[in-house]
Amino acid sequence: MDRITAEKRIEALRTEIERHNRLYHVEDRPEITDQEYDQLMRELQDLENAFPDLVTPDSPTQRVGGEPLPFFEKVVHKTPMLSLGNAFGEEDLRDFDRRVRQVLGSQPVRYVCELKIDGLAISLHYENGLFVRGATRGDGQTGEDITQNLRTIRSIPLRLTRPLTLEVRGEAYMPKRAFEKLNKEREERGEALFANPRNSAAGSLRQLDPRIAASRQLDTFIYGLGELQGETVESHSEGLALLEELGFKVNPERRVFDNMDDVIHFVNGWTEKRPHLPYEIDGMVIKVDSYAQQQELGFTAKSPRWAIAYKFPAEEAVTILEGIEVTVGRTGAVTPTALLKPVSLAGTTVKRASLHNEDIIREKGLLIGDHVVVKKAGDIIPEIVAVLPERRTGKETPFVMPTHCPECGSGLVRIEDEVALRCVNPDCPALAREGIIHFVSRQAMNIEGLGEKVIAQLFEAGLVRNVADLYDLHEKRESLLQLERLGEKSVDNMLAAIEQSKENSVERLIFGLGIRLVGAKAARVLAEHFGDLDGLMHATEEELTGIDEIGPKMAASIISYFALPQAQEIIARLKAAGVNTAYKGVRAEAGVDSPFAGKTIVLTGTLASMSRQEAEEKIALLGGKVTGSVSKKTDLVIAGEKAGSKLEKAEKLGIQVLDEEAFLALLGQQASS
Ligand code: IVH
Repeated sequence: MDRITAEKRIEALRTEIERHNRLYHVEDRPEITDQEYDQLMRELQDLENAFPDLVTPDSPTQRVGGEPLPFFEKVVHKTPMLSLGNAFGEEDLRDFDRRVRQVLGSQPVRYVCELKIDGLAISLHYENGLFVRGATRGDGQTGEDITQNLRTIRSIPLRLTRPLTLEVRGEAYMPKRAFEKLNKEREERGEALFANPRNSAAGSLRQLDPRIAASRQLDTFIYGLGELQGETVESHSEGLALLEELGFKVNPERRVFDNMDDVIHFVNGWTEKRPHLPYEIDGMVIKVDSYAQQQELGFTAKSPRWAIAYKFPAEEAVTILEGIEVTVGRTGAVTPTALLKPVSLAGTTVKRASLHNEDIIREKGLLIGDHVVVKKAGDIIPEIVAVLPERRTGKETPFVMPTHCPECGSGLVRIEDEVALRCVNPDCPALAREGIIHFVSRQAMNIEGLGEKVIAQLFEAGLVRNVADLYDLHEKRESLLQLERLGEKSVDNMLAAIEQSKENSVERLIFGLGIRLVGAKAARVLAEHFGDLDGLMHATEEELTGIDEIGPKMAASIISYFALPQAQEIIARLKAAGVNTAYKGVRAEAGVDSPFAGKTIVLTGTLASMSRQEAEEKIALLGGKVTGSVSKKTDLVIAGEKAGSKLEKAEKLGIQVLDEEAFLALLGQQASS
């Protein structure tokens, strides 16, 4: 075939394939069989092989192309990707309606109601009808360029039906069936499972190798038109129709109403129908239809005034209150915890629920043995929201709050203004023990291998009485080995972790000391302000309250803490042991441009080019914070050789992972810029 004929045939094939692609993946009404589709693709592939210079990025053969990336480039959104305000019930929706009508006066208002897809927000750019760039939302201002991964999603057109230049926004998600299949395969291969479809969609799109995203059966719904050149659209509903016409997948379950009663009726209907959808939704979105009215309504700092997200009620379950446990915290506050008959709730088994304080028990009239309704909203610890007295058998017994500390037996006191009862005995072993647990915790000194059980053992054996004693433990290796469940290896790991904690930047120590009212954030502010512990210890009340985030109560608490002879002695011992008391982070004004600034980063595995300590220092110098374990708060995981469970967890949670090469590239880029 000559070149000119080939070019024509290639063009015809691409248009045809793109049309079938749309019919299959967007409109769900295929006209040809899979074999016929494959035949067209093969023909195109053969022609492109024969004339490689005719290959263009919008060709359907190019969906999965390119090499794994070293890292994702940043993309600054031309208009920020905002989030929505939340409505948790009918009343919130009516308030929203009132606010809208207050601004718009007597104008008629039309609302578009849509499903709120539980996935990952994306922005897609097209130039002259061709897909050129796709990005994540990121922090709303700056996202990451995930074009390579988005190209693999079949419902994203590489070429629009018309050559327009525009930006669209929508949600990438994993259908429930694809999620179940993926987890089943992972289970068979002995890999860590994804917690839910949203995490697995996010995890898939944050992979640097596009072949992984390609294998994950992701899908999209586009719900908004960004910048549009050369055409005008008057309303959101018109915009959605245009998006559909251009070949995007727009959710069909949308409706327009002219009053809030109908909106509420529609929303309530979906609360029931929701489980039957083939994908997950976490609520509904209600938007003012007219663009002119949207403009009139404008935005608050975080979200538009013309739209709101309605969140479905959290999942609830009924179970039995089997007992109430009372524990003493590090501040001496005595808190009751409900012990529940295990029940499955929002995908996890719940055995305990917080009762916060005695008043709640009294208010709700809780009896041991009661049937109770437990609720879990998001990731918050489950709580008891109602008691079902009609299910009582007469065998239930009242709970009596102890009058004496369950640990040391001294009388409990109720401090003015506070609901909690407290143990005020300074020698109460519970206070000291909980203080050590706090000191070693992840946000404080982050000493791994020292869990609550081990600390309780150390305490009982008299090996530690306060946090300074931890740094003498290396002299007591033999006694440590006598303890149950502590072998050579765990003792060595523990001692190494304690040793390593001496290098921490001082905000960890300040937080770890457990000064009342001083949280992790305040500790960082103080560390940054004073530069070291001595500065803070000698600060006056005026100096402290002069700092933006420090109020008079916290200032007073800091002053009285450092005035305590016991505190001074402990600090002197910590210093003598070599615990760092200087701030090692970047002072606020520096490092804001660095890719690590303000990020929480976990290092795992071994790096070939530097020690862990060096890597931590480099990150800290660029304004990042290194923590020990992977959680939802982690922004980035750097995985060296032999990375294990932390890497798996990061993938499960959809956290971005960099290998050593990519990490070095980012460090290098920073050093040279
Ligand atoms: S409209 C100005 N419509 O929900 C914000 N968002 O906080 C415009 N989402 O992460 C967003 N389905 O990605 C809109 N039909 C829908 C949506 C939707 C899901 C997500 C969105 C964002 C969050 C809003």
